[in-house]
Amino acid sequence: MQEIDTLIQNYLKDLDYTPVLKMLDSINIGKKLRSKLLLNIAGKSDISFKLCAIIELIHLASLLHDDIIDDAKLRRGARSINDKFGAKNALMLGDILYSKAFFELSKMDANFAQIISDAVVKLSLGELMDINLSQEFNIDEDKYLKMIYHKTAVLIEASAKCGAILAGLSEGNFANYGKNLGLAFQIVDDILDIKSNESILGKPIMSDFKEGKTTLPYIYLYKKLDNADKNILVSFFKKELDKNEILWIKEQMIEKQILEEVFNKAKTYGNNALIAIESYNNASLNEIIDNMISREF
Ligand code: FPP
Ligand code: MG
Repeated sequence: MQEIDTLIQNYLKDLDYTPVLKMLDSINIGKKLRSKLLLNIAGKSDISFKLCAIIELIHLASLLHDDIIDDAKLRRGARSINDKFGAKNALMLGDILYSKAFFELSKMDANFAQIISDAVVKLSLGELMDINLSQEFNIDEDKYLKMIYHKTAVLIEASAKCGAILAGLSEGNFANYGKNLGLAFQIVDDILDIKSNESILGKPIMSDFKEGKTTLPYIYLYKKLDNADKNILVSFFKKELDKNEILWIKEQMIEKQILEEVFNKAKTYGNNALIAIESYNNASLNEIIDNMISREF
């Protein structure tokens, strides 16, 4: 992963403006799931490292914009860039990282440029779907799944697809692997928002519902509550909840075994991912799924 960090630094080295350098210093680059995936499929090469660096830059840019949209104060255990430097600065840093990524992408094979730029269009549509779904208490599972496919799975799918092209393997099978991995990833994320804690997760827990996101656990819970309790849950939507209200939600989820049900859904997507590439016998791709499903942050 060091090669990717070095490449990213190289791409950004001519950004000789102190406010930008200060913000870059405050960014924690994260797990690099998309790079791990691409490298495990394609192996190490100059081209695969470049694609990884480009994809990580796009991912970073998207999180900068997402934290502004969600008004998030914490990212990966540290103050978010919008909280520390203000939304205007964070917005422009996102634009810089995104444009740097596209400048480098423009030097690559057109096939990669098309796959990745198409993914960014869908990513942005996904974020818009997320914003619009958050306007009201959404109980439509299909709309939710379509949104997380765009917002999260598409860039993971594109990473796997680029990896497969580089390795001369089936684009379709690996895209399918990436798509299902991405869906499982976001569902596990939604579970962790409820059951983890801030020090492990690096961001406040129970923030999805406050931000207006009726993720799968809330959709499933709503469907299992009686009418009176449905009304209570809806009255908590987008609210700063006190301890008792949080406890009420958690107890209802335990009683109705919601997180188990949602976790099984994530596991189903994980299994779909494994089935898509089972004929390749790539143990490290199985490991990525296992680690992702059992992760705690
Ligand atoms: C996190 O979702 C957000 C994303 C995975 C995608 C965000 C995409 C954009 C802002 C559009 C693309 C923009 C550019 C510049 C490429 P979340 O809020 O559910 O997760 P979180 O809890 O980690 O914030
Ligand atoms: Mg967010």
